[in-house]
Amino acid sequence: MEKTENRNMEVKTGSVKTDSIQKDNIKTRARDLLSRMTLEEKIGQLSQAGSTMASALPGFEADIGSWVTEMMEGRLSKEEFERRLSMCREDLREEEIRSGRLGSFVNLYDDEKVAKVQKTAIQESRLHIPLLIGVDVIRGYRTIFPTPLAQSCSFDMDVVRTCAQTGKREAWVSGVNWVFGPMLDIARDARWGRIVESPGEDPYLAGQIAAAQVKTFQEPEEDGCRVAATAKHFVAYGAVSGGQDYNTVDLSKKILYDIYLPPFKKAVDAGVSAVMSAFHDLDGVPCTMSRELLTDILRGEMGFDGFVVSDAEAVKQCVVHGTARDEKEAAALCLLAGGDMDMSSLDYIQYLPQLVEEGRVKEEDIDRACLRVLEKKFEYGLFDNVWQYDEEKIRKTVLCDAHRKAAREAGKRCAVLLKNDGILPISREIKNILVLGALSEDKEALMGPWSFTGNKEYQVTITEGLRNYVPEGVSVTWVRGFDVSEDETDFEEALEAARQADFIVAVAGETAFMSGEASSRADLHLAGSQERFLKRLAGCGKPTAVVLINGRPLAIGPLKENPGIGAILEAWHLGTEAGNAIAEILLGLYNPSGRLSVTFANEGGQEPMYYNHPNTGKPGGSFKFTSKYQDVPIRPLYPFGYGLSYTTFDYRDLVVDTPVFSAEEELKVHVTVENTGDRFGEETVQLYVHDVTASLARPVKELKGFRKIGLRPGETSVVEFSVPAEELGFYDNQGRRRLEPGTFEVFAGRNSEDALMVSCEMRKPSENN
Ligand code: BGC
Repeated sequence: MEKTENRNMEVKTGSVKTDSIQKDNIKTRARDLLSRMTLEEKIGQLSQAGSTMASALPGFEADIGSWVTEMMEGRLSKEEFERRLSMCREDLREEEIRSGRLGSFVNLYDDEKVAKVQKTAIQESRLHIPLLIGVDVIRGYRTIFPTPLAQSCSFDMDVVRTCAQTGKREAWVSGVNWVFGPMLDIARDARWGRIVESPGEDPYLAGQIAAAQVKTFQEPEEDGCRVAATAKHFVAYGAVSGGQDYNTVDLSKKILYDIYLPPFKKAVDAGVSAVMSAFHDLDGVPCTMSRELLTDILRGEMGFDGFVVSDAEAVKQCVVHGTARDEKEAAALCLLAGGDMDMSSLDYIQYLPQLVEEGRVKEEDIDRACLRVLEKKFEYGLFDNVWQYDEEKIRKTVLCDAHRKAAREAGKRCAVLLKNDGILPISREIKNILVLGALSEDKEALMGPWSFTGNKEYQVTITEGLRNYVPEGVSVTWVRGFDVSEDETDFEEALEAARQADFIVAVAGETAFMSGEASSRADLHLAGSQERFLKRLAGCGKPTAVVLINGRPLAIGPLKENPGIGAILEAWHLGTEAGNAIAEILLGLYNPSGRLSVTFANEGGQEPMYYNHPNTGKPGGSFKFTSKYQDVPIRPLYPFGYGLSYTTFDYRDLVVDTPVFSAEEELKVHVTVENTGDRFGEETVQLYVHDVTASLARPVKELKGFRKIGLRPGETSVVEFSVPAEELGFYDNQGRRRLEPGTFEVFAGRNSEDALMVSCEMRKPSENN
């Protein structure tokens, strides 16, 4: 059931602000167009595909799938991959476009090719219907921003908006009108490679990010610049069993509703245009063919009125899941479940015409899905503000100075200082800095996963960044020393160089392909010889800071515990400007302000590890018969919300302004925060709540608010929070919302473990008057 009448959403086309009249107009135009379409043309609008590659040389076999695998496993360089691609002929599916059998293109990164296929659709197809050009824009387009996980560590919606804004503009001038983002999968398990694309482990934070991204992508600008957004992957993809990608998910309703659905609900409320169904099966039903998820929950309960696209080839994968006999049945099941568009399986276009003929699918089912897609094409001005290829405009926009500066600013705000015994920021007395580690100069790693649209030539390495910012007379030298493999050949040379240096920056972590899709890891320790090298390096007795470049929380206990390692900066994959952003932090030109949006476990065996878990009947403690592992500490290595600064903050006077409040009121608290150090710094003040007694065991803490504030030395701020009582409710195992009165503990502090606490009371309804 569509719930558009309940939605107070403004629809804007081009630069013209539109209202419900224009919305009606869009619907009328879409219906009119539909009435002139053949069945096959309608199904064409539900079909999305990318180009295909075939060998252009006799005796040379195009085997793209294997090449991608080899590249991701580090057995094939990107250059060699591209060389092989250049020996292939690309089929842009123009025949399918011309005949109206394809309504959308996926991941076409080349502007000229976008122009070509769009021209074919508009000029040569019978009804001249433009294509939706959909691309993964989760962290910028040509200018690559920090990974989404890193962005969530900024706890700063300006960072999130700037990234979406920059990606939107660069993509839009390049002909992209639809982005596959935001990625909204809550990730509680660091083994899962796609944690790097996620907004972290907390649904409240993820919800803020969802709304900020969707609005930024979709809001029309003066010149009509806007792109349709996609909330993906619906839903609970982050809960894959064992953290293994694409794996099965078995979930209670309460966790689905409390943890995994909320960010999607925020995206829907912000008016998201599309939702992508996920690869995995949830409780036995592949999400892509789940009527309960795609129709009952998404449209019925959440009020979504855009269109649903499957993940790549997820329609045909229903056969492999074992829930459809063949691809034909999969096509019927997915469409009838509420899946409007088929990404890359091409099963809809192949089988739906026949299924309609056989009466197994009704033409009105096709019409409904087709209208949803056509409406978006009208809404985003595809028919009116036809995109024109403009080389000059693209050149001036992508990777322009302003965008790179924005990426640098974002990068600084996403890095998290995990350890500092005082060696950072690097003292101005230091005259000779040695940078060690292959990752420091690995442009691909610094850009990180999901940066296919980026341009390596613009990537700033860590050595370059340091050289850009060190004062006159300070030398910066790089020695490779070690990488993520087992190779120890260069150890001695690097250790010798370390003994001569004043200060060492050792860069360790993961390459670009060690996280991301299909990149789960069972062992969360630094891969290869890295730990061994760092241990020896720490023994050199020189001030040593480790900069981590990685996609996921790693088991870095050995670095934390080693006194020879004075500082650890978690720099994630910060994108194009990584080197500059890191240098500014190391040199103290920016005071780090990132806070962890994910828990760091001591060992991979503790995963999934997250802060918002229930108490259990035997919470971990020193007593034997409590919930814990024998061989690792109970507490996380670094908790959710954690991060250091070059200054210190003191918390005091947490006061509940509403010690007793009703279900219709707000819980109000305030806390005093003071900068007790000697330099300006930003603190993320975090508010958590614990529902002490309820009909279901509730998490020990749940984030309900945060404020990022800047304080000068000695400055004090009283930070206020108001939480509507309604937000203290939760879902039961029937998916029903409950709001239960009683005692709540309220925490305000610097992270999920270090916070002040007070209690308050939500009144029973009878006590309200
Ligand atoms: C990923 C999606 C992505 C799609 C198109 C899939 O493999 O799971 O996140 O949007 O490819 O690139």
